[in-house]
Amino acid sequence: MNRLFSAPTTVNFELTEICNVKCKHCYNPWRDESMGENSIDDIKLNKIIQKFVDAKVFHVILTGGEPMSNFNILLKAIKLLRKNNISVSCNSNLILANNVNTKLLRDAGLDHILTSLPSLDPVQNDLIMQSKGSLQKIVNGIKACVKNDIRVSVNMVITRQNRNNVYATAKFAHNIGVKKFFLTRSVPPTYSQNIKYDNSNPYYLTLEETKKTLDDAIKARDEFGIKIGSLVSYPLCFLEDLEKYRDFVGRGCPSQSGHRMSINANGDLHVCVHEEEKYGNILDTSIQEVYQNQMRGWHDGSKVFKGCEGCEYIKMCASGCQMVSMGFNGEMASKDPLYVGPNNVKKHFKITTNENLNMEIFKDNIFYPNRSLRFRDEKNFYLINIQWGNTITVPHEIGVFLEKTLKAKQTFSYSEFIDKDISWMKKLFDKGVILSDKIKSDPVAFDKGVSANLEDMPASQSI
Ligand SMILES: C[S@@+](CC[C@H](N)C(=O)[O-])C[C@H]1O[C@@H](n2cnc3c(N)ncnc32)[C@H](O)[C@@H]1O
Ligand code: SF4
Ligand code: SF4
Repeated sequence: MNRLFSAPTTVNFELTEICNVKCKHCYNPWRDESMGENSIDDIKLNKIIQKFVDAKVFHVILTGGEPMSNFNILLKAIKLLRKNNISVSCNSNLILANNVNTKLLRDAGLDHILTSLPSLDPVQNDLIMQSKGSLQKIVNGIKACVKNDIRVSVNMVITRQNRNNVYATAKFAHNIGVKKFFLTRSVPPTYSQNIKYDNSNPYYLTLEETKKTLDDAIKARDEFGIKIGSLVSYPLCFLEDLEKYRDFVGRGCPSQSGHRMSINANGDLHVCVHEEEKYGNILDTSIQEVYQNQMRGWHDGSKVFKGCEGCEYIKMCASGCQMVSMGFNGEMASKDPLYVGPNNVKKHFKITTNENLNMEIFKDNIFYPNRSLRFRDEKNFYLINIQWGNTITVPHEIGVFLEKTLKAKQTFSYSEFIDKDISWMKKLFDKGVILSDKIKSDPVAFDKGVSANLEDMPASQSI
């Protein structure tokens, strides 16, 4: 069973329902009924951010609707979060972005935006976003961010419509300064009626068609070095070769692992952004209260599909995406459409393939904790945030040791590390939790291991 946290580590916080376009795949079910009715104001913002601080949330994703259409609140939220040592990112379609407002965002402390970009083809982009001239506006927005030193990642939500444009869209994004390209499986919106496993359903892609989208992204990565990933998890038995598809491994389901909570612009609370079920309202409760009670059903393993029992990757994978499964099967804890079955992984996942980094090197060197670390003591274990939304669990004594060492600005050697546990030292080094001036870390290892929780890896693959 998962380690049970006291509160989420990352929150998706919608600042407004208003959006200037109407993407066909968008999960926000309120668009037709209450578009524009709910937005966060000053009073609510202050209250909610205090609740993040009380719950020791590490990272907040400011989202919407379109958060730039509630710009003053967006600016205030960034400043207030940064002031409280909470890292922040923003999801925006960038249609409203220009040189002036992106500079204000940068000055407020925002260093990353994830933007929607359905296609490099202007006609297709307009069809998907249901808005004229949408591509050029997004491109202008991306360029304004790049100019003002805001790192931009692109999110391309894959449907039957745009699935053949993955490589070209990644290339296009790279050419205008985008650093990372996410190709994200579409989660059928809860209002979608088509649950067929055939090509009349825009959200259904066969296993082969899905693999092709991943292969196209890998081709783009290898040809021009853009980073790649996905925001919705794939069943690991479907990926099969976890070396080749390493960029799509690791994150798992942030809702089942306990990392995630979502807040709507009217204060309603969900675990996953894609779900309709509400668990309370942030304005009437504390984050911990709702998270530790009404939301526990997401954290206790009960959303795992029965057919996954006995799978060695069950903790990392947790049956793929259960909101996709819900979209197709009408219920959770059911079969992900890309499910193959337990123990189908042929090439295993390792955080590092850097063979030069043998264990002996760890015995002869001096280490120190990464200065960016943030900690949460969960009593039986520790949460360590490395940067942004990247948080891992570690045994309690390791957490205490690293927190103390960081506070005292001390270094340590192998013989001083808890139980002289060299395998933990190596794993923490690969994740960038501990550093050494003498040993060069492996950048590939760091990127691919970025979101993998060390304690969730199968025992056989844990070093
Ligand atoms: C709802 S949008 C809100 C922020 C902003 N309007 C934007 O589009 O970036 C947040 C993210 O969810 C993604 N998204 C929307 N509908 C989705 C779906 N059905 N499945 C997967 N991702 C989806 C969008 O591409 C975007 O990256
Ligand atoms: S821009 Fe974002 S919020 Fe607006 S419709 Fe598209 S995905 Fe939804
Ligand atoms: S059998 Fe289930 S838990 Fe195992 S890899 Fe497949 S979907 Fe994931």
